[in-house]
Amino acid sequence: MPDSELKHLLDIGLRAVTEAADMALHPQEKLHIETKSSRNDVVTQIDKSIEELLAHVLYEATGYPLHGEEKHSTQSFQGRVWVLDPIDGTMNYVATHRDYAVSLALCEDGIPVVGIVADVTAGKYYTAIKGEGAWCNGKALPKVEPLLSYTESVIITDLKEIVALSRLVDVIRDSRGHRRYGAAALECVEVAAGRAGAFVHLMVSPWDIAAAVLICEECGVKVTRLDGTPMDICSPGSILAAWPQAHRDLVNKLICEPL
Ligand code: IPD
Ligand code: CA
Ligand code: CA
Repeated sequence: MPDSELKHLLDIGLRAVTEAADMALHPQEKLHIETKSSRNDVVTQIDKSIEELLAHVLYEATGYPLHGEEKHSTQSFQGRVWVLDPIDGTMNYVATHRDYAVSLALCEDGIPVVGIVADVTAGKYYTAIKGEGAWCNGKALPKVEPLLSYTESVIITDLKEIVALSRLVDVIRDSRGHRRYGAAALECVEVAAGRAGAFVHLMVSPWDIAAAVLICEECGVKVTRLDGTPMDICSPGSILAAWPQAHRDLVNKLICEPL
C-alpha cells in the first residue's frame, strides 16, 4: 500500500464505509421501505442514515462536501467532493439480502482519485488510489486480461439493455453467458476482479459508479460510455466497462458494425 496523502484519505473513507456496512448488516430497527421513481426503486431509513452519518463524519475529518444519492448534493464537482451511494442495490438489501454495496469515491475536479466499494455481505472491501493501484481487502488486484475478447468471458447486463440493444443478444450468444447482480458498483467491480469481461448498462448515476470506475481503471479495465466516448462520472449516462480487447470488440459489434 502506498504512503501518500490520498492513502490517508482512503483510510478515512474506509473507516466510514466499514461503519456504514455495519449499519446495513445490523439495522437496529425494522426496515421502513419507501418507493421512489417506481415500485422497484426503493429506499430505506438505513440508506438515509448512512448518508447522513458519512456526510457528517467525512466533512468533520476532511472539510470536503458530499454528493450522495439520497439527500446531499454539491453545487459542482470542482475541487474535492466525496461521492456516496449509501446502499447500491437497495432492492437486494430488502429482498435477497445479498449483493448490495456501499460505494464511496473522493473526486478531484470530477475525476475519482480514491475509490471504495464494499461488498457488504461478502465482507470484501475493494479500494483504489488513482495511479497507485487497486486492492481487495488490502491485497493488490492484478491487471485484467488485455487480449481476451468478450467471446471468452461472462458479460454482465440487464433485461433493459437486452431489450433496447438487439445486437446485444448476438453478443451474449457468442460470449460465455450473461449475469446480473442488481448493484452497479459490484457489477463494475466484477470486471476489475477479472470474473466478468464486460459490464454494459444504459443508465448509471455518479454515485453508482464513481468508486468502481477508478477500481476498474487501476486494474486496466477500459471504461467509457456505451458508444466508446469518454466517461464523465459527473453526469448520468451509459457505461461500458470491459477488458481492453473485449471493449474494442464490443464497441465495434454493438455500435460501429453496419447492420
Ligand atoms: C441501482 C442499482 C441497479 C442499477 C440501477 C441503480 P440503487 O442503484 O445499482 O443495479 O440497475 O441503475 O440505480 O437504486 O439500488 O442504489
Ligand atoms: Ca445505486
Ligand atoms: Ca442507492
